[in-house]
Amino acid sequence: MGLTEERDGCRELVKAQAHVWKHMGNLISSMSLKCAIQLGIPDTIHNHGRPMTLSDLVDALPISPTKSPCVHRLMRLMVHLGFFTIHKNGEEEEEEGYVLTPSSKLLLSQSSTSLAPFVLMMLDPVLVNPWQWLSRWFEGKGSTPFEAAHGLGLWECASQNPEINGCFNECMASDSRLIMSVIVKEFGHVFKGLESLVDVGGGKGAAATAIAEAFPNVKCTLFDLPHVVATLPQSSGMVYVGGDMFESIPPADAVFLKWILHDWSDEDCVRILKLCKEAIPSKEEGGKVIILEMVIDVENGDHQSVETQLFFDMMMMVDTYGKERTQDEWSKVFKDAGFSSYKFTPIFGMRSLIEVYP
Ligand SMILES: C[S@@+](CC[C@H](N)C(=O)[O-])C[C@H]1O[C@@H](n2cnc3c(N)ncnc32)[C@H](O)[C@@H]1O
Repeated sequence: MGLTEERDGCRELVKAQAHVWKHMGNLISSMSLKCAIQLGIPDTIHNHGRPMTLSDLVDALPISPTKSPCVHRLMRLMVHLGFFTIHKNGEEEEEEGYVLTPSSKLLLSQSSTSLAPFVLMMLDPVLVNPWQWLSRWFEGKGSTPFEAAHGLGLWECASQNPEINGCFNECMASDSRLIMSVIVKEFGHVFKGLESLVDVGGGKGAAATAIAEAFPNVKCTLFDLPHVVATLPQSSGMVYVGGDMFESIPPADAVFLKWILHDWSDEDCVRILKLCKEAIPSKEEGGKVIILEMVIDVENGDHQSVETQLFFDMMMMVDTYGKERTQDEWSKVFKDAGFSSYKFTPIFGMRSLIEVYP
């Protein structure tokens, strides 16, 4: 082997090591992000009102004085990951301060589109521990890694633990508030002409509330498991129904399913969709199912969106009985449930609205 080939081989070896380390380190990104939210760093910088120096940040955080020297290390990583940037405090001054980026603005606790509850729930030990079981699950233990880790399924776990129930429902609601603000503005045509809609598995009702506010003529019903509905303060204008979507679904012009079918196997999706079909009128009378889900497109999607979709698919494998689906996989499920036609509308990136007609 010549000198150049030997050098290329060494370079490749070290590059491959860096690739492995980067993916091993993804956990460090996640956990550092969680820590920044738990310490209230985005809120603290926001409330400061101008670029915040490291020493002001250290003084403002609820940390032990012995840990003060470590704050700049956490912040250095968070700046590197794009959650904060560093600005100079004024033209003349030398002092540098942290400011928020569009991503950390989404982590402010008081923002109507805050994703902080979503990140905190996804990184809670209840959802992180099952990953330690993944290989044992492949070898045969439990029907999901979640069940292998906790001895019961996700929904059963939520029904038995009010704290997890509350955090999970708020986590989902935080996503709904953000994405529904986009949908009602940019893709509101899917709700036009409806007189009634039932949000099946609607959690705390954030999506149904956004639809009802944007389209006051649509009478909205929120349908979820009894332990979810029981915790909700009833609001005027919305009907709340507790039940099991595998038994029956309240009737309406349209059924809305956001992040429901990805929790279930194809066979279970067909069961749910058949009951949806029974709940709505014919296509001619305006009946449809409106689905908000990811549609995986490995060939044509941008690299980051596809990676995130594949992350969600793994998450579904670990925590639920479901999966993220390609357009072909979705089409098969709709046909097997007896629907005649469907239309996919991508909504700026990873998710799509799918209108399915009886
Ligand atoms: C992933 S969450 C989605 C919540 C909401 N649609 C959203 O996207 O914000 C799934 C929801 O399905 C509900 N669910 C699970 N099994 C159900 C069942 N058998 N009948 C009705 N709802 C169910 C859960 O309680 C949970 O609120």
